[in-house]
Amino acid sequence: MMIETGGTVGSAQKISNWLNESDAVRYQAYSYSYPHKTAYREFAQPVELKNIWAQEKRDALFLYVHIPFCEMRCGFCNLFTTSNPEVSFEQEYLTALERQAERVRAALGDAKFARMALGGGTPTYLDPQDLENLFDMVHRVFGIDPRNVPTSVETSPLTSEAAKLAILKERGIERVSIGVQSFVEAEVMAVGRSQKNVEVERALDLVNSFRFKILNIDLMYGLPGQTAESWSYSLNRTLDYSPKQIYLYPLYVRPLTGLEKMGTTDSDIRLELYRQAQKELSEAGYQQVSMRMFERADTADTASSGADVLNRFRSDELSRDEFQSGDATPGRPAYSCQEDGMVGLGCGARSYTSSVHYSMRYAVGQKPVREILQNFIDCETEAFGFADYGIRLSDDDQKRRFLIQSLLQMEGLSFAEYERRFQSSARVDFGSELSEFVELGLLEITEGRMRLTSSGLEWSDRIGYEMYSPNILKLMSQHEAL
Ligand SMILES: C[S@@+](CC[C@H](N)C(=O)[O-])C[C@H]1O[C@@H](n2cnc3c(N)ncnc32)[C@H](O)[C@@H]1O
Ligand code: SF4
Repeated sequence: MMIETGGTVGSAQKISNWLNESDAVRYQAYSYSYPHKTAYREFAQPVELKNIWAQEKRDALFLYVHIPFCEMRCGFCNLFTTSNPEVSFEQEYLTALERQAERVRAALGDAKFARMALGGGTPTYLDPQDLENLFDMVHRVFGIDPRNVPTSVETSPLTSEAAKLAILKERGIERVSIGVQSFVEAEVMAVGRSQKNVEVERALDLVNSFRFKILNIDLMYGLPGQTAESWSYSLNRTLDYSPKQIYLYPLYVRPLTGLEKMGTTDSDIRLELYRQAQKELSEAGYQQVSMRMFERADTADTASSGADVLNRFRSDELSRDEFQSGDATPGRPAYSCQEDGMVGLGCGARSYTSSVHYSMRYAVGQKPVREILQNFIDCETEAFGFADYGIRLSDDDQKRRFLIQSLLQMEGLSFAEYERRFQSSARVDFGSELSEFVELGLLEITEGRMRLTSSGLEWSDRIGYEMYSPNILKLMSQHEAL
């Protein structure tokens, strides 16, 4: 079936080919924060943040604060973080973060925030006093009180301590997200994460005792040694804690991570494990929101977590993907990740306006990560008012971003919304690409929306990647990983 022609790249042959290839091609990229950060480059000249934000809608922004510290460096992880920094280094970082916050606030002019997230790394790596100071700082500089602005905080089992969780509760944090990965110790050890079950259980019991509105648990599938049986065990152990959300991440082996250096030889059973989880979680009353996100049915229609926004944002390949844009609480502005901007604070945070995405430099290796952090600490306050690294999105890439972010959620793409936003038709702009997916049974059209089919859902990571523009693919291929 052809929708209408007039689109750009893509060929049915190419897509049929990857449909017939091995499962590895299915797991091509985590695409929610298109364009991928490996497409970022130094700008010809630093650009004033004031100018970048001047024309933007600023009444429902998302503030993301990146804490690039962890108690360990997991073998699978390529997020921008460093493990066990010296206390003085951590303090210097927090001081620089405050200077940056003030400068960024001044550049934004009139601005209101609809959501906030603390991510990393592991924000709860900070001492209780530093966490308190951070919330005070965000309140003083941006006027954000998490009691009124739905806020999500990431934590790890080891750093989920009572004193820190008490602060999160007292501050009104809505959502706490914890990385568990697996309830089988040998499986987490095999991917270079030293984690004891007794620690995980203690942390989950403790987090639940604080009754946060939303608990999210991250699990990974495709771990070395993982089987259908052990996966079922991890899923069931997760269900014991009744989380409102569960994120299931297919294991990706990323460049320069410990896991890449170790090499893995297991056969690829990610698809089987994904299907198994879909079935088991559905039987347990969870609704699927996207390939990675599952939500307990009793909360699916009212959730205001912005969880995926954070995921989508944090890393293209992970963290943070699909989301619910509506806010259940009357009187609060709702954040829509396709339309509203994201202000990133801290080294490792990205910021998004409709046409410019920017950040600090990015690295995985410990030495370059430390160097980039040191540059952040040493940065003159005035310089925090400029962006010098990122990407300007062409009209075509703005449309692709909208398309990818919409299509990869169960809700799909609304043709009317696309038209309202771009004054053109998605059918005309991307006709040939979209019709190929329809012909292959990966997308379907009903009631003015285009949605992934169940087969398409399984191909989410590949479909997103197939929608990248030639220019972005070229930039990504030329990126030199640090
Ligand atoms: C910031 S962490 C979560 C919070 C905390 N730092 C922790 O590890 O407990 C990000 C999450 O992304 C997922 N993740 C990270 N690297 C991954 C990879 N290479 N493949 C699949 N999932 C990954 C993990 O599930 C992890 O919990
Ligand atoms: S998975 Fe979490 S704890 Fe491990 S290195 Fe990444 S951010 Fe840190």
